[in-house]
Amino acid sequence: MNTTTASLSEKGHSLAGMRILVCGKGGSGKSTISALLAAMLLRRNYEVLVIDGDVSNPEGLIRLLFGTGVEGEPEPLVEFFGGLDVVTCPVDDPSPLTRVGDSVPLAEKKIDVEEEIPPQFIRQRGRMRFLQVGKISTYGQGCDGPLEKVVRDFIASGDAVSIIDMKAGVEHFGRGIPHSLDIVLGVLDYTLESVSIARRMAEFCHQAGIENYWLILNKIGSDEIESMILDKLGDLHHRVIGPIHFDQNLIKLGLTGASLEAYRSVEEFEHIAEQLEDRVSGIGRRK
Ligand SMILES: Nc1ncnc2c1ncn2[C@@H]1O[C@H](COP(=O)(O)OP(=O)(O)OP(=O)(O)O)[C@@H](O)[C@H]1O
Ligand SMILES: [Mg+2]
Repeated sequence: MNTTTASLSEKGHSLAGMRILVCGKGGSGKSTISALLAAMLLRRNYEVLVIDGDVSNPEGLIRLLFGTGVEGEPEPLVEFFGGLDVVTCPVDDPSPLTRVGDSVPLAEKKIDVEEEIPPQFIRQRGRMRFLQVGKISTYGQGCDGPLEKVVRDFIASGDAVSIIDMKAGVEHFGRGIPHSLDIVLGVLDYTLESVSIARRMAEFCHQAGIENYWLILNKIGSDEIESMILDKLGDLHHRVIGPIHFDQNLIKLGLTGASLEAYRSVEEFEHIAEQLEDRVSGIGRRK
């Protein structure tokens, strides 16, 4: 641990330097929660690195983070590693990524984003940087495994908390992507499908040795619905770090393209961020 990490941790910044994967059912609110978490962590003086790991959805996350004023998406990180002709699917070829012009695989080496990543791959505002792994952009492009390999192996050095917004479902678990992550944050909405996916992700996290598996209940319309979902979760209910209520304003914000940073749901999220810090400091960094 370097001195900056040590000093941040002493102040209760237990998430410093950690990598958080945000995942769950389609439409449950993963991107919204990634943006809310980023906004809340910035308020708590963390440095934040948001990575769009969703290879399908265009533009949504960057709008929630920066509003509509931002000048387009950054270049895809997969290009930094040589592009789709070079980067392989992690199932066919589990070997780690290498940087272009570097013969040594990334393996344990972390990347200093400020020093090593050229500016065209980054959008930045203050203490937040935004990167994206790449998108499915052409017909017949093939499997999105290589893009997920970037999620797996792109590990930043320093104190920034990495928040990785994933595409819906559990395919990335099937590919073993989470093996390099510290925290998996599962997002549920009010459906039984959400509960089933949360249960399956719990099993995958157990198999991957991830103890920091926490759940957020999103779009909760009433106490009754919240307790019904908690009931359905059974023994997983102790993994829940908080609810976010159903709020039409969040939908309006998504439609108008305004940034979530100044939004009042960020306040609602404060308790969730505190819970996350507490739970993670109880378990600690992944061995
Ligand atoms: N608490 C909430 N209350 C009301 N609407 C919400 C809430 N959270 C998210 N939404 C809305 O639900 C929709 C889906 O949210 P979001 O895009 O964050 O989900 P997602 O899980 O990232 O979706 P995808 O699986 O497509 O990536 C958006 O219109 C968003 O504004
Ligand atoms: Mg999304």
